[in-house]
Amino acid sequence: MEIVLIMSQEHKTLPKAEIEAVLKAENIPFEILNQYEGVLILDVPYECLKSLNMIGKRFSYTHEVCKLLIETDKVDLNSEIQKYSWKDLITKDYAVRIKRMDKTDKFDTSEVEWELGGIINNLVENIRVNLVDPSSFIRVIFIDNKILVTERLFKIDKKHFYNLKPHKRPFFYPGSMSPKLARCMVNLTGVKEGDLVLDPFCGTGGILIEAGIIGANVVGVDIDERMVEGTIKNLKYCGVKNYEVFKEDARKIKLPYKVNAVATDPPYGISASTGGEESKNLYAQSLITIEKLLTDEGKLCMATPHYMDIKGLIEETNFEIIEQHHIRMHKSLTRVITLFKKNI
Ligand SMILES: C[S@@+](CC[C@H](N)C(=O)[O-])C[C@H]1O[C@@H](n2cnc3c(N)ncnc32)[C@H](O)[C@@H]1O
Repeated sequence: MEIVLIMSQEHKTLPKAEIEAVLKAENIPFEILNQYEGVLILDVPYECLKSLNMIGKRFSYTHEVCKLLIETDKVDLNSEIQKYSWKDLITKDYAVRIKRMDKTDKFDTSEVEWELGGIINNLVENIRVNLVDPSSFIRVIFIDNKILVTERLFKIDKKHFYNLKPHKRPFFYPGSMSPKLARCMVNLTGVKEGDLVLDPFCGTGGILIEAGIIGANVVGVDIDERMVEGTIKNLKYCGVKNYEVFKEDARKIKLPYKVNAVATDPPYGISASTGGEESKNLYAQSLITIEKLLTDEGKLCMATPHYMDIKGLIEETNFEIIEQHHIRMHKSLTRVITLFKKNI
């Protein structure tokens, strides 16, 4: 079955990487059929639809998941809509909504929605338009010269990312990561419900909250007691139950078990202190410890400033880089999100 994912356009590479990592983690087979700015078309077995609906909630940078009905262009749009058997699809009520991926493509979307809705209305008897909560939501996507006519399967609720912004949690400290990026980093590691995720520089617990919400068990470590207490407060507030948080130097962590993934945002020495240690040394030494704590198949996702020599940091370890994503924060800082695996 061909499905269309409408992705956030706030980053060029992270949304697609996140989708691929989550589908692989959740054992949903897929083939990438096509991709455009903000849109990914996948072939997914029909029987996986139910699981996709469940795991879709995990995505941070995907907005909607739709089933592809018609692939056409502006010239043939109306005739293709005429030809489609809407009777089989729409049984109760419906709405046609347009998504224009290229905002420079200027046209009156409500006029086109009205026109397409009118064609469909003439082809199906006893149905009505319901713009509030339609049982069939026809999403028509305009990208480049193409038009994808789809039926929306589900929309990903983003309220959580807004409601749990760092300053809205009981414990806040400057330098906290946005929940969206934290969720994406957790997703890139490919963890599943019940897995164990470690953040050895947990700060206010932003990464652990996101891992906990998708059902992982979490372990947080910070050298600062205030952060340990604050993380526990935040985890409780967010309803995360399976956690362990303690004070320790990330370079000295010892655990009686291995963790399935590590996602972390170590201090740059700007808003979060490195305790007087040069960040390069702190990172390199922590990576040696992290490698010992991680299972052989486990992945590490780490945020670093652009000036950090990442290849140099992993010289003393068996880590190898799988992928990297660059996020420009402001003129003088770009964050690099790197995904590592063990090379054994
Ligand atoms: C950038 S903050 C983490 C922010 C976190 N991702 C959040 O959303 O709140 C880095 C944290 O590392 C902690 N830290 C600094 N040196 C450390 C060390 N050697 N071991 C463990 N934690 C350390 C700091 O106390 C700080 O809370």
